[in-house]
Formats: sequence, structure tokens, C-alpha cells
Amino acid sequence: MKLIIAETKKEAREQVKEWHRQGLTVGLVPTMGALHEGHASLVDAAAKECDRVVASIFVNPTQFAANEDLDKYPRDFDRDCRILEGHGCHMVFHPEVAEMYPDEFCAAVDIESEMTKQLCGKSRATHFKGVCTVVSKLFNIVGADKAYFGEKDAQQLAVIKTMARDLDMDIEIVGCPTVREEDGLARSSRNTYLNADERKAAGVLYKGIVAAKDKIDRVPQGGIATAESILEVMRDVINTEPLAKIEYIEAVDGMTLLPVDEIKKGVLIAMAVHIGNTRLIDNFTV
Ligand code: PAF
Repeated sequence: MKLIIAETKKEAREQVKEWHRQGLTVGLVPTMGALHEGHASLVDAAAKECDRVVASIFVNPTQFAANEDLDKYPRDFDRDCRILEGHGCHMVFHPEVAEMYPDEFCAAVDIESEMTKQLCGKSRATHFKGVCTVVSKLFNIVGADKAYFGEKDAQQLAVIKTMARDLDMDIEIVGCPTVREEDGLARSSRNTYLNADERKAAGVLYKGIVAAKDKIDRVPQGGIATAESILEVMRDVINTEPLAKIEYIEAVDGMTLLPVDEIKKGVLIAMAVHIGNTRLIDNFTV
């Protein structure tokens, strides 16, 4: 089936309604484009579980602060369409900014809890409000049965699950495993900002994860590792790389995202590390 390109909300909504009339289920993969293997794995997961797959490509201005990379965010729509088609996507929703945010636009969706103030929320104060607003709009426009998000953006996934639960959104949120490069670097559209030296240096994030997992595995049965002892191992590994600057490495509850003192099953260990001018995030769940 040839990829349908919908540029208006009306086209996207009507096509999905038609699929629903035919009794077909629909999966949504929200993206900002610059697609990579991580996005492809979300499309694959949606195609496995749903009859029709819709991907959205929209670089959402409301989730970028004034000092962030909105203007330089990589964009290549034709390449993205080829990737989507190759992975069995049926429709791409690709609106202009004015289609999503017309002049009179004045609504917002936000999570009023500590969870958006932790981790990335400390340096990106308005980011999750922008994400919740655009994702709510995408859910309302597309009307899909399921939506697929990567676990690499663990805080985003937790925030979106909370939003969908608390606002009774009639959609199932599915988290999909992080896809990694050969040296373990998590796939991200922002990896394209790295020059050759920085790309090599970026492998240190995963080395930190491996060292932490190794230390957790060596805790004797019945024993408990303190969060600090694990975070220290990660900091030590990452600080060996001169190009790396840690923004945060934290151990938090996987649901509330509040800091924890002990490492138990379900704890999320997450980090943001700057490699040169590029801010990378990664995480693992114990
Ligand atoms: O993860 C992303 O690419 C974006 O935050 C999302 C979910 C598409 C919302 O703009």
C-alpha cells in the first residue's frame, strides 16, 4: 500500500475514521522526523499489533525553549517517507506549524506534579507542557487505538502515560525498548550533531550503564545497593571522557520519577550528558 501523506487534520482524521468504519485497528507513532532505527522499531511494533499504522512528523515548537535547537533540528521529509514506507507505515501526518497552532491557539495540557520537574524537567522547565499539548492534539486528531513511544525518553513516556490515565484518554500507550548503535549509543536524531571525535566519546554513556548494571548484578542475594553507590560508578566512568559533561545522573522511582535512596526492581536510572554542544539522554530500568 502506497504511503498516504496527510497535511491537514481533516485528511488524517477522516482516513482513520474510514479505517475504523472498516473494523481496522490503528496505531500511531508520533515523531519529529529525522527518523532512525529507533523510530523504525516503533513502526514495526505498531505494524505487528495494529491493522493500520500512522506516523506523525512534526517538529513541535512548543516543546523547545528559546535557547534550544528548534531551528537546527534535522529535517528530511522525503527520506523519512521512504523509511516509513519500508516499514509498512500506511499514512504520515505532516502538518505545517499553522495547521497545529493557528493564530488563535491558546490551550495547553500539563501535568501538575513533581514528575515533570525532575530529571530533564530541571533544565527544560516548559518542555513537558509542550509535549503533553502536542501529543494530546495528535491523539485527538488521529483517534488511534494505540500509540508507541521509545523507552529512551523514559520521562516523556511516564509523563504521557500519566496524562492519558488522568485525562481518561481512550488510547493505549505502548513503550518500546531503546535501539542502540554497535557501541551501545542509544539511537537519537540528535546523534547527527556529533562530529567524529564526539561520536566516539558518546559511547561513554553506555559504558556507564554497563558498569552500573555490573555493580548491581554483583550485589549479594538479599543485599541492597544504595543509589549513591551505583550513581558514583556511573559518574566515575563518564568522567573519564574529557568531552563528556554530566548534566544529571539520577536514580528515581520508575512511576513517580521521584528520587530514591535504594536500588530495587523498577527503579529508573537516567542521565543527561553533554558531549560538546550536544545533549544526550539515556537510561535503564533495574
Ligand atoms: O519524542 C518525540 O519525538 C517528541 O517529543 C514527540 C513525542 C513526537 C512530541 O513532539
